[in-house]
Amino acid sequence: MARFAPPSIVRKALASDLVDRLTAPHGIDRYLELVDPTWTVRDIRAEVVAVERQTPGTVTLVLRPNGSWTGFTAGQHVVVGVDIDGVVHDRCFSLAGSPHAGDGLLELTVKANPKGRVSKHLVEHAEPGLVLRLSAAQGDFVLPSALERTASGDDLVFISGGSGITPVLSMLRSLVDERHVGRVTFVHYGFTADDVCYRDELAELIGALPGARLLIGLTDAPGEGDLDGFFGPEHLAIITERPERAQVYLCGPAPLMASVERVFADLGLADHVHLERFGPPPIDPTIAVGDGAVAFARSGVTAPSVGTVLETAEAAGLSPASGCRRGICGTCTRTKTSGQVRNVVSGELSATDAEPIRLCVSVACGEVVVEL
Ligand SMILES: Cc1cc2nc3c(=O)[nH]c(=O)nc-3n(C[C@H](O)[C@H](O)[C@H](O)COP(=O)(O)OP(=O)(O)OC[C@H]3O[C@@H](n4cnc5c(N)ncnc54)[C@H](O)[C@@H]3O)c2cc1C
Ligand code: FES
Repeated sequence: MARFAPPSIVRKALASDLVDRLTAPHGIDRYLELVDPTWTVRDIRAEVVAVERQTPGTVTLVLRPNGSWTGFTAGQHVVVGVDIDGVVHDRCFSLAGSPHAGDGLLELTVKANPKGRVSKHLVEHAEPGLVLRLSAAQGDFVLPSALERTASGDDLVFISGGSGITPVLSMLRSLVDERHVGRVTFVHYGFTADDVCYRDELAELIGALPGARLLIGLTDAPGEGDLDGFFGPEHLAIITERPERAQVYLCGPAPLMASVERVFADLGLADHVHLERFGPPPIDPTIAVGDGAVAFARSGVTAPSVGTVLETAEAAGLSPASGCRRGICGTCTRTKTSGQVRNVVSGELSATDAEPIRLCVSVACGEVVVEL
């Protein structure tokens, strides 16, 4: 049965500052969610309305977000909060649908990490009726606008592997909705044909775009795909005869991404590759470990630095909340009350003052105290 959703005029009244003040300190959403978790007027919630398990170990979820959702651009992701045994865990997932779809629905495809907590839970247990917490859409891995594409006249090349298909599928679906007419090559890698999600739809989408090609690369099924084995210069020669005109949108397993980056860098075209990483960013080995110790003030534990402050906390037996583990979702943010940390992505050294830091991308430089 479809959920009842309060009319937008009621939502607007409930979202007012006056109601917020009257319901302080908790705020109106904490009361509304007791009635129905999707009635929140500030926080975004989404109900799973359809579930499909396209390939072994994956699940595709169709979500209906509540009225707090404000839309997205093709390629962006959301931080999804999933309640497992009463504890909410945050993870990032890319939106796979086209932002132009008129039905207001969102789509995620999740691949189970056999050792992971959230992906495995969703693949095994997600069913219609499940309600998820969502952040607003975020990220700058996005499809250029129609105007930018026309102005540049570049070829669009999408390269994905495994669950990395989601953000580039969103871009492809969006191109179809925008009736794009330029050159498009969509390359997707899987182990075997059975691992390729959306295979029939990919062919349909490519068929709907003049000048578009689909190449399926299979690493473990010689002769059965359009490309055999792993990406390298010989694959690139099939993908495009003019790499200097290509703008590449890349998402997939770390070795695939590293190969594409290397091949384009060797051609002097590193800036033609735009990418989304699902895993942690590559860390400069000279600053990865840090050279100090971290005192976790609330837990009363002090530990030598063994990596990021998050890894140091975990190695010391603590379990701080984390989400993306790459500095983007903010879940692991805690206050550093003294000492200096270095951001392993930007290389930047912090001040010594008290300030919030993201544990997953900070390494201790000397003695550091963190409120944890
Ligand atoms: C921008 C972005 C978009 C993404 N989009 C998608 C998508 O569309 N589809 C998709 O399937 N995935 C996507 N991901 C990946 C997703 O966010 C999760 O990382 C993935 O699903 C694994 O989460 P998990 O909870 O199952 O695993 P986790 O529980 O986070 O575990 C992941 C790995 O870390 C290890 N680990 C966990 N905890 C510890 C610990 N305490 N100490 C040491 N090691 C530990 C585990 O052994 C495991 O190997 C995206 C990620 C990002 C950053
Ligand atoms: S876990 Fe996402 S910012 Fe640290």
